[in-house]
Amino acid sequence: MKILLLGYMGSGKSSVGQRLAEVLHLPFYDLDQEIESKLGQSISEIFENKGEIYFRKTELQVLNDLLASKNSYVLALGGGTPCYGNSMQFLKERQDVKTIFLNTSLQELTERLFVERQKRPLIAHLETKELLNDFIRKHIFERNFYYNQANIKVKADESVAKIVSEIVLQLF
Ligand code: S3P
Repeated sequence: MKILLLGYMGSGKSSVGQRLAEVLHLPFYDLDQEIESKLGQSISEIFENKGEIYFRKTELQVLNDLLASKNSYVLALGGGTPCYGNSMQFLKERQDVKTIFLNTSLQELTERLFVERQKRPLIAHLETKELLNDFIRKHIFERNFYYNQANIKVKADESVAKIVSEIVLQLF
């Protein structure tokens, strides 16, 4: 079984994914990190040097490479991964994939992302919390269409431990 975590930037995909993988004794992968090591550049550098379209193509390629393996694992996707091409449809059709949506509130996302927005090319230019909150609200409205198609949905304002227990309960 491949367990894929999806949700907006800052929703906790990497920290929840790491802990979930430990609990389930599975390897953990982070799609952004896989892309960074394949290209030898940070996500910000890739956006800056090659642009978003190139990033999206690479993101899909790296995802397909990971899905080609027969192994079980936990994988944290990027916030945009299920929202481009027909990725969400394609993931839903795979018998060996379970998708989990970490549903974090707008307020919590704004708080978490404001302090670390410099690392994230899509929001690095937003200078106030109000601008960031407005951007996230509109962006989530578009993306929830995809996120809501996940097999399992969990509220994700809680602690990592609580979210992981909730996922484990729903998985088995
Ligand atoms: C993106 C989210 C980022 C990264 C890139 C684009 C997005 O991943 O893939 O900056 O479109 O939401 P995280 O969700 O892990 O921050």
